[in-house]
Amino acid sequence: MTDAGGGTASSSMGRRILLLVGSVGAGKGTQAAALSSELGLAHLASGNLFRQALRDGSPLGEQARAYMERGDLVPDDITIQMFMQELSQPAAARGAILDGFPRTVAQARALDATLAERGEQIERVISIEVPVEELVARVAGRRVCPVCGTPYHVDSDPPRVAGRCDKDGAELQQRDDDRPEVVRARLEKQVKPMLEVLDYYDRKGVVQHVDGTQPIARVTEEILEGVRAGW
Ligand code: AP5
Ligand code: MG
Repeated sequence: MTDAGGGTASSSMGRRILLLVGSVGAGKGTQAAALSSELGLAHLASGNLFRQALRDGSPLGEQARAYMERGDLVPDDITIQMFMQELSQPAAARGAILDGFPRTVAQARALDATLAERGEQIERVISIEVPVEELVARVAGRRVCPVCGTPYHVDSDPPRVAGRCDKDGAELQQRDDDRPEVVRARLEKQVKPMLEVLDYYDRKGVVQHVDGTQPIARVTEEILEGVRAGW
């Protein structure tokens, strides 16, 4: 039995919390945007929150800057506090697609504990899987909207008007951390903790593994088929 949003009856009892896990450029942001509009859930992306804080010149942005520039993860205490605050906002009242959080087992445990306090739990973890050679090509061709964070790709997902965001017309940019040396560092430093997070959730039996090398729309369909089947 499914609810109006296409979820299972049992998952409609609390907020719906879905996690997207994947390496640098695997397609988390791309899929989160599609799933958020399809399922009517907020899209919460830790990387976008840090980039917004950087643009705002806030203390959080200043704390995160050096880590992001080196391709390191931002420390857990800063990240957990920022993300939990976001998760408690009215925008996430129905639930949320979590993009890029949790990225360490400590973050995953903190998330589980916070949800448990409200009688909630994660509905599923979607692991978007792409080989490393393809990730590098994807990130090299990525352009993002500085206003809404929507990612595009010059070849595989171009905007309707070259160089302009479909949603708000802003001029697309390359991310500072998409420079090849930072991409290498992100891959070197962030894959291991990501695999630990996946292992943590695999043990709970909540991971949907998805072949992220398929065309964007097909990846979305495959995720939604799993969500709707509600295994
Ligand atoms: P974050 O912004 O989350 O970066 P990331 O994890 O490296 O992931 P990306 O945003 O680069 O990739 P994506 O998976 O969203 O791919 P996208 O959809 O854009 O984090 C940035 C930094 O913030 C981190 O390095 C860290 O310092 C810090 N941070 C963030 N969260 C943190 C946390 N929890 N803890 C600690 N620190 C944290 O797609 C990529 C490209 O491929 C696009 O051009 C897209 O158009 C294209 N594409 C997508 N899908 C397909 C497809 N199926 N076929 C072909 N092309 C595709
Ligand atoms: Mg992203």
